[in-house]
Amino acid sequence: MTDTKTTQHSEWSSRFAFILAATGSAVGLGNIWKFPYITGENGGGAFVLVYLLCVLLIGIPIMMAETMLGRRSRQNPIETMKTLAKEAGADSNWHYLGWMGVIAGFLILSYYSVIAGWASAYVLKAFTGSFFGADATEIKGLFDSFVASPVQLIFWHSLFMLATMLIVVRGVNSGIERAVRFLMPSLFVLLILLVAYAMTTDSYDRGIKFLFTPDFSKLTANGVLTAMGHAFFTLSLGMGAIMVYGSYLPKEVSIAKTVILIAGTDTVVALLAGIAIFPIVFASGLEPAAGPGLIFQTLPIAFGNMTGGWLFGILFFVMLVFAALSSSISLIEPAVAWLVENKNMSREQACIWSGAITWLLGLGTVFSFNVWSEIKIFDKTIFHLLDYLTANLMLPIGGFCIAVFAGWIMKQQHTEQELGMPDALSYQAWKTLTCYVAPASVFLVFLHVIGVL
Ligand code: PHE
Repeated sequence: MTDTKTTQHSEWSSRFAFILAATGSAVGLGNIWKFPYITGENGGGAFVLVYLLCVLLIGIPIMMAETMLGRRSRQNPIETMKTLAKEAGADSNWHYLGWMGVIAGFLILSYYSVIAGWASAYVLKAFTGSFFGADATEIKGLFDSFVASPVQLIFWHSLFMLATMLIVVRGVNSGIERAVRFLMPSLFVLLILLVAYAMTTDSYDRGIKFLFTPDFSKLTANGVLTAMGHAFFTLSLGMGAIMVYGSYLPKEVSIAKTVILIAGTDTVVALLAGIAIFPIVFASGLEPAAGPGLIFQTLPIAFGNMTGGWLFGILFFVMLVFAALSSSISLIEPAVAWLVENKNMSREQACIWSGAITWLLGLGTVFSFNVWSEIKIFDKTIFHLLDYLTANLMLPIGGFCIAVFAGWIMKQQHTEQELGMPDALSYQAWKTLTCYVAPASVFLVFLHVIGVL
């Protein structure tokens, strides 16, 4: 590999540092905000089952593949694809895969930052006691009037983008590692606390049943696509985030064990969020299909009515903002790494440019909740369109290509050596999933959506 690049390219201080950063990337709004609302919109149990299967059969093997590609080349995703394609004697067009990832990162961060802005605003609302003793109607009113104000949404979106860029500018090691270390365990404890509150409502059983009893009559073809897309989204796959983090991974670390740990943690966090939220949804007579506002319309009810709710409410939204931050930095890192390593920009310049572009794109999402809410493209608001385009299309397509590249294009000897599996059987399992199961599943889901299947 090119030695000049390795000098610019940093490395995690340990396996643990990579685990923290990659878990930080994976665990975010996807688990706590998105998973519950899309589960609610898609009828519950059957959707959850498909999502879990996708994590297991598609997500984990592709996450291993993506980490491996990054670590083998130790460069940003665009250069990684260029170098590895050359090494395998394949077409140089593979580097467009890196490009698609960078673009997907911008598009996702543009709306991610707006929603993370909501969470930031809710820290303040929690602090000023806005949830105190409030019922479901009041909490809904609070949310509706908040998102109706473009000025407020822009303010919080700007603040969140600024925070993201301030961390990214300091580079992956110093900025990310420290933040995530205390954050993940705290978030976990708060979620358990919310689950305990949910158990005290009389709708706990109904919530659990909704989540874990599959009723396939409620699942549409688009629901299947959303479940699969979410497996990519929640594991940060298909756009180079995990690839760029993998590129900072020391050589001796076992990729398989590490990836399984990260994917497992991510899934547990999402399920806990679901278990906490749905009982509250039913107990307060809310609609599970309330859409992107779901957690903002349910959790404050719990905080407003439980003992210690003032403090827990503040803590929860603070944690959510931090969880979002540790994901947002990974959404922009592929672009920043590329600008620094290939366009000779300083890290500061790279951050200013990519931050400004994302901020501007984010205005589209801000306005889709108020002044532009009537503007529909393909029957979707700008926010919905961006989400659909990235999570349901770009990430699965990116993941499909990564699987094909790792499974079919790279030399077996290279993948074997890089993955360093403990035995031949587990390597074979990965190889089968990556060559056949994962790409075929993505392909079949797409055929199902366009009605061919
Ligand atoms: N995985 C993050 C979440 O669940 C979102 C994300 C997607 C981050 C893609 C990086 C890349 O919130």
